[in-house]
Amino acid sequence: MSNDHPTDRDRPISGQAPTTDGAAAGRYPPGYDPVTHTYTPPTGPDGQPVYPPGYDPVTHTFKRPEPSSDAACPVDHEHLHEYRHVPPALDEVGDRRTMVVTGASRGIGHSIVRKFADEGWRIITISRHAFEGNRCPWEAGPEDHVQCDLGDREQIPLAMIDIKRRIGNGKLHALVNNAGISPKGPNGERLNSLTTPMMSWMQVFHVNLLAPIMLAKGMFEELKAGHGSIVNITSVVGSRVHPFAGTAYATSKAALTALTREMANDFAPHGIRVNAIAPGEIITDILSPGTEEKFLPLIPMRRLGRPEEVAELVHFLCSEASSYITGEQININGGQLL
Ligand SMILES: NC(=O)c1ccc[n+]([C@@H]2O[C@H](COP(=O)([O-])OP(=O)(O)OC[C@H]3O[C@@H](n4cnc5c(N)ncnc54)[C@H](OP(=O)(O)O)[C@@H]3O)[C@@H](O)[C@H]2O)c1
Repeated sequence: MSNDHPTDRDRPISGQAPTTDGAAAGRYPPGYDPVTHTYTPPTGPDGQPVYPPGYDPVTHTFKRPEPSSDAACPVDHEHLHEYRHVPPALDEVGDRRTMVVTGASRGIGHSIVRKFADEGWRIITISRHAFEGNRCPWEAGPEDHVQCDLGDREQIPLAMIDIKRRIGNGKLHALVNNAGISPKGPNGERLNSLTTPMMSWMQVFHVNLLAPIMLAKGMFEELKAGHGSIVNITSVVGSRVHPFAGTAYATSKAALTALTREMANDFAPHGIRVNAIAPGEIITDILSPGTEEKFLPLIPMRRLGRPEEVAELVHFLCSEASSYITGEQININGGQLL
């Protein structure tokens, strides 16, 4: 079993197949354009957006939220500071640094929010499930959490409205596209070029590749105003065949690496940097038993990576310390590719 984003191996792939007949069937809310996938809500007499019936701008979903877990936070906090109130991180004109990070509920994304919270950033999180406040809260965690399935193209434009409203002053300093899925077969087996169902291809590419560009494009003006930094989390599997990670996952990550390069070129004239981080084998809460033994001989440093180590690198790429770096992909893998 893979330790390389085992994200969804225990659950069936969620979300709907993309459709083109939704408008005709009346599935889209007023103001949603199913061709461009943009959403412009009508405004009321007070100039505020009027959300469609059934849409909850707080949880930002039409679906019932799944029950949250009371389980303890699975992340190893040994290497993290205790949560504490720290002075807010400010930009050059004194505005609080604000980031959006996808997939913050577990693993690497969770360590990213812990790191940035410790550094005084304001963090807006996106994931499918409701904020699990009992596990590991940080300042304004529940208030700044947007529930959205990044595999559902109809939800992303709606989520964008909610995020923009939360950003408030129109400035975004960082966008971290961290959420990723890597479906496995019914018995946990690797899905290769011959065995990957088309639905899986669509879902994987939507979450891993299309959602990052939809979010970056959707928040372009805010990122421009904040001289922002975009970090895409790719993977070691984008450059070579991996024994566990499936073909759709690997190719989506390779495409995200290429997209990082293209975006860096297009966004640079607007003062926005775009980089990628390609983790190797990082310990998350859903590592399979035996993974360490399997991979240690292949890793010159003879250990797996920690999510906190990836978070440090994300912070570097979102800080002034990396102000002249764009279009790069930084490997973090203990020498796995040497
Ligand atoms: N761990 C590794 O060894 C490794 C190696 C290379 C690359 N990576 C990459 O690093 C990133 C984080 O991986 P991880 O190991 O931390 O994974 P993880 O522990 O499984 O966490 C994945 C996160 O993504 C969110 N997510 C999944 N599907 C989503 C969807 N459709 N919409 C919105 N959010 C979604 C999940 O939250 P919800 O379930 O609440 O939605 C969760 O917070 C991924 O891009 C992965 O591909 C990981």
